[in-house]
Amino acid sequence: MAEKSFPAALNEQIANEFAASQQYVGIAVYYDAETLPRLASFFYRQALEEREHAMMMVQYLLDVDERVHIPDIKSQETSFADGVAPVKLALKQEKRVGEEIFALFELAREVKDYRAEQFMQWFVKEQVEEVALMGDLLNVVERSQDNLLLAEDYIAREAPGEGGGDATAPPPAGGAG
Ligand SMILES: [Fe+2]
Ligand SMILES: [Fe+2]
Repeated sequence: MAEKSFPAALNEQIANEFAASQQYVGIAVYYDAETLPRLASFFYRQALEEREHAMMMVQYLLDVDERVHIPDIKSQETSFADGVAPVKLALKQEKRVGEEIFALFELAREVKDYRAEQFMQWFVKEQVEEVALMGDLLNVVERSQDNLLLAEDYIAREAPGEGGGDATAPPPAGGAG
């Protein structure tokens, strides 16, 4: 028997997604202060995406008549040794969230909660994309370490992470931002 109920575990993940959102705001603000506007807007947008993940989980809990717990805000990192460190942190964060999502998927299976398992499927796919996206960005900023304007050019040219709408995405509470 699993030690945790799926709704309790999902409520924890809501906190993790909001924390990821806050951390991305912190990173965006760091780049904004360094006058690297493309990197800043990339992370402002990632922050909104993480918030949306949290709100999808909120909507799911509403839909299945479970209690929603909105977590406290913890402070996040906003000062970094250099321009590469934030992306390293972001990649680490995406990998960690990936593990968390897999654990939720496993729990849903273990307790034979098929609605939950189906709900988690989209997040499994999403994490594969997010880890790949951050891995690519880390390659670019590492190569442009001495001149992050090259990374700015890359973001302007390639628009990484701006894939547009995903019709298979679960609906967020309050509607899509
Ligand atoms: Fe997320
Ligand atoms: Fe993410």
